[in-house]
Amino acid sequence: MCIRALLSACTGGRRAIPGLVLLVGVLLTGCQTTPRGAPDTLYVQLGERAGIARLTETLLLDIAADPRLVDDFRGTDINRLHHMLTDFLCENVGGPCTYTGDDMANVHRGLDITSTEFNALVENLVRAMEKQQLSTGVQNRLLARLAPMRHDIVNAPQPPSPELRALILGDLELSRYSAPRVDQGL
Ligand code: HEM
Repeated sequence: MCIRALLSACTGGRRAIPGLVLLVGVLLTGCQTTPRGAPDTLYVQLGERAGIARLTETLLLDIAADPRLVDDFRGTDINRLHHMLTDFLCENVGGPCTYTGDDMANVHRGLDITSTEFNALVENLVRAMEKQQLSTGVQNRLLARLAPMRHDIVNAPQPPSPELRALILGDLELSRYSAPRVDQGL
């Protein structure tokens, strides 16, 4: 839309001066995607702390309805979790919040979280972001911030594959071993 205004201002001929005025106006107001003076951070794009709190609530509602995840959260103080997760996300996306909890590895230690559960939570997060009508770009930016945390959060012991067992027992030749290796992301 701004590029269209720029083009019409530049091709306006005798109407170039009004076009230029329009262009300056558009550049000063219409192209802004964030409130004047506010930084164009992911924090703003997520709707600041109130938007992040809504997103967290939607996520927790979806988790409550997801049989793959709900058992993990039984016994958790949900009010505290909502508050802590909101502050955590807020701080991580450049907002003026202070997360006072422990780091991700310590928080999730002993919960035996599997890759499958992590993926299920991410799936719920994407659905929650869709419900909040966040653009794909914003969704991807938030996911990119969270993805590196996977290694700290997923902590369930990975069972060896049946193929590996067969290999060790001598029931399978090494040349026929094709199971993924841990460093290739089990
Ligand atoms: C990117 C993914 C995740 C992030 C950013 C995240 C973040 C957090 C945060 C900030 C807290 C609150 C810590 C506190 O109270 O101090 C928390 C707690 C918790 N998380 Fe996660 N988490 C993630 C994935 C998961 C997954 C996949 C599960 C399980 C399937 C899970 C289970 C829990 C549980 C049960 C608690 C409550 C622990 C307690 O109260 O002792 N989290 N998480």
